[in-house]
Amino acid sequence: MSAAFGVLAAAAPAPARGPPLGTRHRASSSPSVAFGSRPRGASSSSACRAFTPAGAKIAGVGMSVPAQFLTNDDLASLVDTNDEWIRTRTGIGKRHVISGDETLTSLAAEASAKALEMAGVNARDVDLVLLATSSPDDAFGSACTLQAAIGAEGALAFDITAACSGFVVGVINGVHFIRGGGFKNVLVVGADVLSRYVDWRDRGTCILFGDGCGAMVLTAVPDPNDCCLLGFDAHSDGEGNHNLTASCVASVSARGESKPRAEDASAASAFAGFDNIAMNGQEVFKFAVRTVPDTLGKSLKAAGMDDASEIDHLVLHQANQRIIDGAAKKLKVPAEKVVSNIEKYGNTGAGSVPIAIAEAVEEGRIKEGDVVATAGFGAGLTWASAILRW
Ligand code: COA
Repeated sequence: MSAAFGVLAAAAPAPARGPPLGTRHRASSSPSVAFGSRPRGASSSSACRAFTPAGAKIAGVGMSVPAQFLTNDDLASLVDTNDEWIRTRTGIGKRHVISGDETLTSLAAEASAKALEMAGVNARDVDLVLLATSSPDDAFGSACTLQAAIGAEGALAFDITAACSGFVVGVINGVHFIRGGGFKNVLVVGADVLSRYVDWRDRGTCILFGDGCGAMVLTAVPDPNDCCLLGFDAHSDGEGNHNLTASCVASVSARGESKPRAEDASAASAFAGFDNIAMNGQEVFKFAVRTVPDTLGKSLKAAGMDDASEIDHLVLHQANQRIIDGAAKKLKVPAEKVVSNIEKYGNTGAGSVPIAIAEAVEEGRIKEGDVVATAGFGAGLTWASAILRW
């Protein structure tokens, strides 16, 4: 699926959703989109908002990583590897991992607070929280705990699971919600704490992943043709799912193969959780090298650009420096336009693209009016790209 907003001047309205189960239901606070006239008796401040197509801009970004980190030398004390091999094959020098009280929600709250501050948006004015993650603190998702942590009490909040493509998918969704009308401020967060699922005995995977989070505030602007999302492209291929997994594992009774009995109430018999990350590295590498230039080419075309010469920055999912370099070469993007921080953080899953964008903004590298080409790819398999105007 690919599209350009220059062409789709009036995007289809996004579907409204009720509040997720298990969260506080504030009857007056969950946004819902009304198509057509305002219901009789509803005031202008009613939660039921009229459909008014809008444009969207990026208003702020922020990031956070855990305090503790592991260097390549640290990993060499766990598995048979070394700094030189890891740097040469991946470009990674260290990765941060959560410890103590840190959680996915705490990282996401810190990054979100920074993004809201830059945007000058009060958390109470956020209408929608989209949390892209594959490693929530709760199987039912962590968007609602993030919503509570930052005080976005009026927002609908839900998780998006699209692995390392999640943040790009989240931005595409967020812009659509705004353009459909009824949502003014959307907080899109990409966060993962994949260290929870890393097998620290597997040198093929433990060197790659780190924890981290980035956030972006999208805000409505009156002109529907004024949109920060110039073009996008997004895909999935479940046939390749087996190449990168953290599968659900459950005991016999938890799998439903026998009727639960009172004596099964012991912890062991009722266990369900997720296995370690298992990856076919070479297949995932080939998939990334094939799909990233392809999806970016489609997004550029959707944005009305002949090639990548019109972009100012290339911000790819930080999975492997060789993948980043290969895609940049194929798209003919010079090295000075390529944003890379993989040396410091490794692969932070859904966090990697927004962390890279937030750092580049903080460093003054990405400036107002710049065009950023970004792409995510990973488990699912999923891949997505977007051309954004900062
Ligand atoms: N340290 C030292 N040696 C290692 C090693 C490590 N950490 N990991 C693997 N090796 C060894 C292998 O055992 C193999 O040894 P052999 O030749 O004696 O059998 C050799 O190095 C080459 O292994 P290979 O798997 O072919 O290496 P590679 O060049 O493909 O690099 C990855 C491995 C994982 C770095 C690379 O495949 C990759 O980055 N794939 C994409 C992964 C990815 O991006 N995943 C996330 C997507 S969101």
